[in-house]
Amino acid sequence: MAGRIPLSELGTQENATMATTSLSVNGKTVPVAVDDPDTPLLYVLRNELRLHGPRFGCGLGQCGACTVHVDGAAVRSCVTPMSAVKGKIVTLEGLGKNAEPHPLQAAFVEEQAVQCGYCINGMIMQSADLLARNPKPSEDEIKTELANNLCRCGTHLRIVRAVIRATRI
Ligand code: FES
Ligand code: FES
Repeated sequence: MAGRIPLSELGTQENATMATTSLSVNGKTVPVAVDDPDTPLLYVLRNELRLHGPRFGCGLGQCGACTVHVDGAAVRSCVTPMSAVKGKIVTLEGLGKNAEPHPLQAAFVEEQAVQCGYCINGMIMQSADLLARNPKPSEDEIKTELANNLCRCGTHLRIVRAVIRATRI
């Protein structure tokens, strides 16, 4: 008869060594415990820090749902190992507040540019990167910037209208 399977074989962490490091997230330095430095930043943000603005979509860097900013640049956090992040992270939660939303957040509400909402984190974070570099982009420039952000609900027209509206706020 086979022996008992040790708990460690079943994915428990009883023998794992957890390393503690820190990240700068939304203006605060926060401690993070990870057992693998290759852990995707997205997992740390969602599972450890409970920041659920960034979403898990494809997990392959292809849909944009997981986008966050690192030092102001849009980054796909599902394919970014935590150990590679040295700069300041901003998530959708840090972009604006309910009382003082980012112009993009306000414009997406005004244009009702959300259906299921799954892609919207990526649409806003990618657009925020664009507007920081180019405050008055043309419609074509917006479409080019968002060409690799996927929306399965087909709300692209409203999303582009929302970004244009945000340039006027
Ligand atoms: S979940 Fe990261 S790009 Fe799709
Ligand atoms: S609003 Fe549903 S995926 Fe874009």
